[in-house]
Amino acid sequence: MKKLAGEKAAEYISDGMVLGLGTGSTVKYVLQKIGELVRQGLDIKGIPTSMQTKKIANEYNIPLTTLEDNPEIDLTIDGADEVDSRLNLIKGGGGALTREKIIAYHSKKVIIVIDESKIVKALGIDIPLPVEVVKFGWGSTKKALEEFGCTVELRKIMGEPYITDNSNYILDCEFDRINDPEGLEQEINNIPGVVENGLFIGLVDEVIVGSKQGIMTLGKEVVS
Ligand code: A5P
Repeated sequence: MKKLAGEKAAEYISDGMVLGLGTGSTVKYVLQKIGELVRQGLDIKGIPTSMQTKKIANEYNIPLTTLEDNPEIDLTIDGADEVDSRLNLIKGGGGALTREKIIAYHSKKVIIVIDESKIVKALGIDIPLPVEVVKFGWGSTKKALEEFGCTVELRKIMGEPYITDNSNYILDCEFDRINDPEGLEQEINNIPGVVENGLFIGLVDEVIVGSKQGIMTLGKEVVS
């Protein structure tokens, strides 16, 4: 299902584009396809949203650039952890949320590729909301986040704190459900020490869903 969605998204790419390259296992199929197209002569430049994506893009010989050299991105293709009916997202399961949000914000068009399990009635139901925080004072930042009524855990990997590509920590905030994603996104980002949170509000143009029945495309207004 992830492969179906990833390969479908690659159809939106055309010659000369600057592409935002998302992160995750679904995007890996997009990168694979872009690599194939580049071998056949497609002329694009990609801006990776993580070190992981940079490494994969290099393996596929995808030409890379930076936001500094190409500040206008034509199209970004990325994954998501949850998608609601208004195409708002939770991202950051892979820890890349800050760079992903910067890239999405500066893109003319953003397409999200997911399998059907990521569609939810309300954000926060299935997975915690990741928040990237600076290391300094992280315990106090955690307490401030708990004021929103969530349970907060420092993300760890093999017993050690997970470190983002920006050398920060991730605090995973578990809510029963997030009732006001727009408000919460802003309020969390007002806490000193918070770098960015995984709520992506109003940034997405289209969601391509791989399902057992095939491909489904969710647009801002039209569902086909
Ligand atoms: C990375 O930080 C995330 O935002 C990913 O885009 C998200 O976790 C989707 O990953 P998968 O495609 O692997 O499910």
